[in-house]
Amino acid sequence: MGYGIEAAFRGRKVLITGGLGFIGSNLARRLVDLGANVTLIDSLIPEYGGNLFNIAGIEDRLKVNISDVRDEHSMRYLVQGQDFLFNLAGQTSHLDSMHDPYTDLDINARAQLSILEACRKHNPTIKIIFASTRQMYGKPDYLPVDEKHPLRPVDVNGINKMAGEWYHILYNNVYGIRTCSLRLTNTYGPRMRVKDARQTFLGIWIRLLVEGKPFEVWGGEQLRDYTYVEDAVDAMLLAASNPQADGKIYNLGGDRVISLVDTAKLLVEISGGDYVVREYPAERKKIDIGDYYSDDRLIRSELGWQPQTPLAVGLQQTFAYYQEHLQHYL
Ligand SMILES: NC(=O)c1ccc[n+]([C@@H]2O[C@H](COP(=O)([O-])OP(=O)(O)OC[C@H]3O[C@@H](n4cnc5c(N)ncnc54)[C@H](O)[C@@H]3O)[C@@H](O)[C@H]2O)c1
Repeated sequence: MGYGIEAAFRGRKVLITGGLGFIGSNLARRLVDLGANVTLIDSLIPEYGGNLFNIAGIEDRLKVNISDVRDEHSMRYLVQGQDFLFNLAGQTSHLDSMHDPYTDLDINARAQLSILEACRKHNPTIKIIFASTRQMYGKPDYLPVDEKHPLRPVDVNGINKMAGEWYHILYNNVYGIRTCSLRLTNTYGPRMRVKDARQTFLGIWIRLLVEGKPFEVWGGEQLRDYTYVEDAVDAMLLAASNPQADGKIYNLGGDRVISLVDTAKLLVEISGGDYVVREYPAERKKIDIGDYYSDDRLIRSELGWQPQTPLAVGLQQTFAYYQEHLQHYL
């Protein structure tokens, strides 16, 4: 990340929804270091990934607004005067979206529309980056999955995130509000939720390893790719600062493709400890997508993005972070 990125954000006003969450707080750290004027919005709903400890050490260098993106009045006020919006607030659990589909709808679809309406009416020159997900592809027809792959979500969350993404693209195309959507794959790193598996199975694996307990691998042969959070942050900054990204959708992938069981082996080599392989639970099997990995050549060629962190290094750094800070995440 060179001089261009610094020039794009120094002294600029940046709003991050979901800014106390995993990816949002890592992004906030980077933006504060780049000299941006950062405001975080987060509801701190306990079941989600928001955590005040995520901004430990930078709390005096940014503003935090504890509010809910479903609150249209707050959003109308908060988007005003901002140069960039990183729109990351979301309900991220696939299983929760099946048990409580309306909450997922309200946060991942309806609130997204009202954020865009607030921008259209009160700040149409803002640039918006939306955190989308590979979940909306469903079970892949082919691998690796590129952006042209059919969208066939297998859970309520995938459908609502798809609507949220397409509202962003529509507002770009119809109203000229510059938006870009990044379809994230499994993202991991320091500050992810480890209390349970709501955000990612890697979270609960790492928590159990730090606690000296074995973790469970369900199935094991499924192929995955992973993005280290700093690489996801790079992609967001590149997309925000490059006009070529306007109106575009990009997949993000990782540095390699690896099965779950090999991921578990790699993690155990790094951290010590153990795991057991179990059959995939029936309730989750219905919404599982099988093998998945991204074709992310489009963002590599158009924006020059490239993951910098090999999986072994990223897992090492993540494990080390939770060895030191686990008590703040339980
Ligand atoms: N982590 C991943 O692997 C991954 C993969 C694909 C997509 N994404 C997307 O990236 C975004 C960020 O995810 P994350 O992994 O950092 O999860 P996270 O749960 O740590 O962050 C989301 C944040 O949004 C906040 N939030 C939720 N509902 C809100 C509301 N109604 N109003 C205000 N704030 C609210 C939460 O408190 C949390 O801090 C999400 O939109 C998610 O769908 C993440």
